[in-house]
Amino acid sequence: MDLRDKIHIDRLPNHIAIIMDGNGRWAKQQGKLRAFGHERGTKSVREVTESSAELGIKNLTLYAFSTENWNRPKLEVQTLMKLLISSLKKEINTLQDNNIKLNAIGDLNALPTKVSRELNDVIDKTKTNDRMTLTLALSYGSRDEIIHAVRDISHKVKNNIISPEKIDEYIINQHLYTRNLPDVDLLIRTSGEQRISNFLLWQIAYAELYFTDVLWPDFSKDDLYEAIVNYQNRERRFGKTSEQLS
Ligand code: FPP
Repeated sequence: MDLRDKIHIDRLPNHIAIIMDGNGRWAKQQGKLRAFGHERGTKSVREVTESSAELGIKNLTLYAFSTENWNRPKLEVQTLMKLLISSLKKEINTLQDNNIKLNAIGDLNALPTKVSRELNDVIDKTKTNDRMTLTLALSYGSRDEIIHAVRDISHKVKNNIISPEKIDEYIINQHLYTRNLPDVDLLIRTSGEQRISNFLLWQIAYAELYFTDVLWPDFSKDDLYEAIVNYQNRERRFGKTSEQLS
């Protein structure tokens, strides 16, 4: 049986987030430079985006560049930024053809002007698409996101816009970069590492975690299906007992 046929379309995760890891190792295995791995990684980005939309996933969030990634060698940072610009230029048609809306989260002011210009252009052109929202986490760090939220809320408290007693999950959610997104249901990390690496710490509170040894450039449509089948075989209890759920 095809893996695709094992997926229950009525129980899809509403929000899948992916830590795309292993580009560098993949390139090394091929005897190539790390940049080659990142370039091949964009092929997986396209395949996973298209197949998620085709399945009916409503939200897909990809960890493309972390706040910590700024500390990589300058040349690698430049390569990643160039790759982002060229991918955005190249993939606007893929997004339009599949009715996908582009969104971005992170400290976007830290991005080079050329990247933010291209990013804003694609975000604007795809803003009315409504089949799936593809969110790129760029210059994103969960702690940085929480710091920004705390600062914003503090200013509002100081100016009597919010009273401290009114601060609840909803208010905090509204001040995160992800304010327009639902909680994550399934978090996937490739390349065998079993860490969260400062990604969506608040938003994964009840997410199912799925780790695979597959390196990101090798991650295919079938690997995505396998992760979803695995997710659908789990019992999500949200703190309740099994009996309460049935
Ligand atoms: C992790 O592999 C990957 C990244 C830091 C960047 C992810 C970027 C892409 C897939 C390409 C551009 C993205 C888009 C959205 C067009 P690594 O370099 O940490 O691999 P390693 O752990 O094997 O060294």
